[in-house]
Amino acid sequence: MLTSRRSFFAICGAIVLPGVSLGELIRTPWQGEGPFYPDRIPEDTDNDLVKNGQSTIEAGGKILNIMGSLVNRDSKPIKGMTAEIWQTDMNGVYLHTGSFGSKMRDVQFQGFGRSITDRNGHFYFRTIIPVEYPGRTPHIHLKLWNERENVLTTQLYIQGHSMNKEDFLFKRMTLAEQNINSMELLPAKTNDSIEYITSVRLVVFS
Ligand SMILES: [Fe+2]
Repeated sequence: MLTSRRSFFAICGAIVLPGVSLGELIRTPWQGEGPFYPDRIPEDTDNDLVKNGQSTIEAGGKILNIMGSLVNRDSKPIKGMTAEIWQTDMNGVYLHTGSFGSKMRDVQFQGFGRSITDRNGHFYFRTIIPVEYPGRTPHIHLKLWNERENVLTTQLYIQGHSMNKEDFLFKRMTLAEQNINSMELLPAKTNDSIEYITSVRLVVFS
C-alpha cells in the first residue's frame, strides 16, 4: 500500500526536516551495495514496506517512518530522483534467495521499496527499525537513481547503536559521515501504538 505524504503528516503532525546548514555541506558517503540487493524485484515496490501487496496484515517489527530530503551541494532540493531502500525483516532475513534464514522470512514485510523525490526533494518510507544480523550492526541499504544512473549507494544506521563501533562498514566512515548516515529515532504516538520517526538528509554533488 502506498504511503502518501498526507498520511505521514497525519501520523507526525508538524514535521521538521533538517534545514539548510551553514557552511560546507558534507557529501553523503558511498557505501557498499552488499550481496543482498533483491535478486527478484517484488511486485509491490511502493514506499510502505510494512504492508506487502494486498495483505492487510502488517509486518512484524517496530515501525519507522523515514522523512527524507535530497539536496545538492548548494542545499537546493533535487526533485524526480528515485530512492530505493532494502533491508532485512525483523528476523534478519533479506528478500533474496541467498539470504540466511530464508525459511524464517516474514512474508508480510516487503523488504524493498521506492520513493520518488518531490519538488522539495522530499521522499518518504514507512518501514521497520532495522535489526542486527550476524556480522553487521543494524542498517538500511539505500540507492538513488537519476533515470538509470545510480548516483548514490549508501547505508543508514541507528544513531548511538552499541554495535556501530565494531561494524566494519560503519568504521570506514569519518566521524562526520557517521553522523549524517545515522538516524535519530524519535517515538511518536499514533492511535494505539508507538511508531518511530527519523529525518534523513542525503547530499549528492552531481
Ligand atoms: Fe546489509
